[in-house]
Amino acid sequence: MTSRAVQYARYGGPEVLEIVEREDPQPGPGQVRLAVRAASVNPIDWKLRSGAMASTDAPGKPVIGGVDVAGTVEAVGEGVTAFAEGDEVLGRASGGAYAEKALADVDGLTAKPAGVAWEVAGSLPVVVTTAYRGLALLGLGADDDTAGKVLVVTGASGGVGVVATQLAVARGVTVIGSASERHQDDVKALGATPVVYGEGFADRVRAVTDHVDAALDTAGKGDLGDLVALTGSADRVLTIADYAGAQEHGVRFSSGGDGEVEGALADFVEHLAAGDHRAPEVVVYPLEQAAQAQEDNRTGAVSGKLVLTP
Ligand SMILES: NC(=O)c1ccc[n+]([C@@H]2O[C@H](COP(=O)([O-])OP(=O)(O)OC[C@H]3O[C@@H](n4cnc5c(N)ncnc54)[C@H](OP(=O)(O)O)[C@@H]3O)[C@@H](O)[C@H]2O)c1
Repeated sequence: MTSRAVQYARYGGPEVLEIVEREDPQPGPGQVRLAVRAASVNPIDWKLRSGAMASTDAPGKPVIGGVDVAGTVEAVGEGVTAFAEGDEVLGRASGGAYAEKALADVDGLTAKPAGVAWEVAGSLPVVVTTAYRGLALLGLGADDDTAGKVLVVTGASGGVGVVATQLAVARGVTVIGSASERHQDDVKALGATPVVYGEGFADRVRAVTDHVDAALDTAGKGDLGDLVALTGSADRVLTIADYAGAQEHGVRFSSGGDGEVEGALADFVEHLAAGDHRAPEVVVYPLEQAAQAQEDNRTGAVSGKLVLTP
């Protein structure tokens, strides 16, 4: 059987993305094949596609975009017992998610509660796991003594920021979240105090609080100097999005692999289904419009999690 996927065979702008018809991928040991219901766009998708993160001029073979996926298990590989055909799951695709069929390692999958919509499920894996990890690395994990701590989150209106902000608030943390003018009310609705980013950001934070215990930089837009000054120490700051700034200011950069919180995705969707967490807003695009969705995410023209549906 064949099915459609969105791939790129060279690095470049959104125009390098093409829809292709390919043989359905076969799950290897420990993997399942999903009939994809939703896949979401993360900034890493267009950063990888651009070649900015590559050490070669072209990918060795065509790359299918995307990591976040939600779908129904339709084939299981050798040794898989955790999931069976027909199970509804979300998690990380292995080898691309912008497709009608995607492979995933079962270790990266979580059961989808019936009450969570497909588009929402497909938008969550990367932002949820990153937010849990970021807070844990700052000593603001679920098992830490977090009550009364004060945290600054940059990009509190973004995918990672929305999740991190509400998790921290739920843990008794006072959160000051930066966002553009148009998203101030959204940040407030998460239980945080919103401040506008840009020139004067640090002074606006100081106007709200006389001390900051920790800062999570999800925006990666040059705020690390201010965040070190606000917290009083580079050790109290973590960035997931500003590698160069992290080097410059002696701040920890987390790209994953370290500090992952086991069960993060399952925990979040459970709370989501129960109605005591909320997901970032989703905007749905058909799979054919993957290039437009990546570009809208890159430019910030469309806010929220941009989700592709086959
Ligand atoms: N290291 C990792 O493991 C990891 C994992 C996931 C994501 N990331 C990275 O983290 C970043 C955020 O990802 P995301 O999915 O949350 O992105 P997103 O949904 O596009 O959110 C971006 C956020 O940045 C804010 N922002 C835009 N311009 C800004 C500026 N000049 N100053 C301060 N804030 C600004 C936006 O606010 P407005 O919308 O209000 O303008 C929004 O809150 C990306 O760079 C991504 O690659 C890293």
